[in-house]
Amino acid sequence: MTDSPINIARIIDGKAIAAKIRAEIKTEAEAFTKTTGIKPRIVFILVGNNPASEIYVRNKGLSTEEAGFSHETLRFAETISEKDLLHEIAKLNADPLTHALLCQMPLPKHISEERVIEAIDPAKDIDGFHPENVGRLSIGKGNYFAPCTPQGVVEMMLRDNIEVSGKHVVIVGRSNIVGKPLAALLVQKAKGANAIVTLAHTGAGNRLAEFTRSADILIAAMGVAHAIKADMVQRGAVVIDVGQNVIPDAAKKSGTRLVGDVDYDAVKHVASAITPVPGGVGPMTIAMVLRNTLTAAQRMHVR
Ligand code: GUN
Repeated sequence: MTDSPINIARIIDGKAIAAKIRAEIKTEAEAFTKTTGIKPRIVFILVGNNPASEIYVRNKGLSTEEAGFSHETLRFAETISEKDLLHEIAKLNADPLTHALLCQMPLPKHISEERVIEAIDPAKDIDGFHPENVGRLSIGKGNYFAPCTPQGVVEMMLRDNIEVSGKHVVIVGRSNIVGKPLAALLVQKAKGANAIVTLAHTGAGNRLAEFTRSADILIAAMGVAHAIKADMVQRGAVVIDVGQNVIPDAAKKSGTRLVGDVDYDAVKHVASAITPVPGGVGPMTIAMVLRNTLTAAQRMHVR
């Protein structure tokens, strides 16, 4: 049988799904505020002048505003000491009206990301980076926060009616922010999960395509522009692209362009469904920041 290139994958519209979730959260937040007299509140911590971090925090701030949350961004100079930053976190942990705390990574070299993550109250750690949240996610029980991007991927597939249960999901990339927590979520015996998961990474070397080609659902989260080529994808597979890579593009006014980890223009002829970049997973991450913030507030105030 010859492969025909006429097939074009259905586009999974993460932007539209995220907009619907944001509207639901806004309604729920209004009810929360009516009951408690307070707004869900998130504080963003931004250290230094990393342009990507500035954009992420600005976008997250705008969405929280739109959802009717209270939010603030605390900005600190690149030179802030670790001790002073930890002191600021301790103050926010102790503030009963701050429900969520998000310290944007990366941090300057002289500050330990581990110590900062471990300083955040796990009940306010809506990133799900604290070892207590990581551990509870792994166990799959109790009140915990799962990291926003993996949670967004699972929610997107659920709302898009992509059957995950019993499917072979291959994740490429083993980061603590995406790959590892996504594997932990997808193996859970739960709605939208119950998958057979392979976590592939650079250790696969030249065998990577062997693994990716066996995926019913392929999730690219390695952070390498256009790394997943058409011949690495099984015909009819669902392809989820978590990549956010900025590459040079002389045709753009900015001189750059945002692309995913998937060679979209080629892979769309092989996959049955595919997420675009931008407009796929990215908006889902922001929706999950809102979801987790509201959950944190509800856990603290609603009995
Ligand atoms: N830097 C890149 N992604 C993230 C994220 O999801 N959370 C935080 N806090 N920092 C990041």
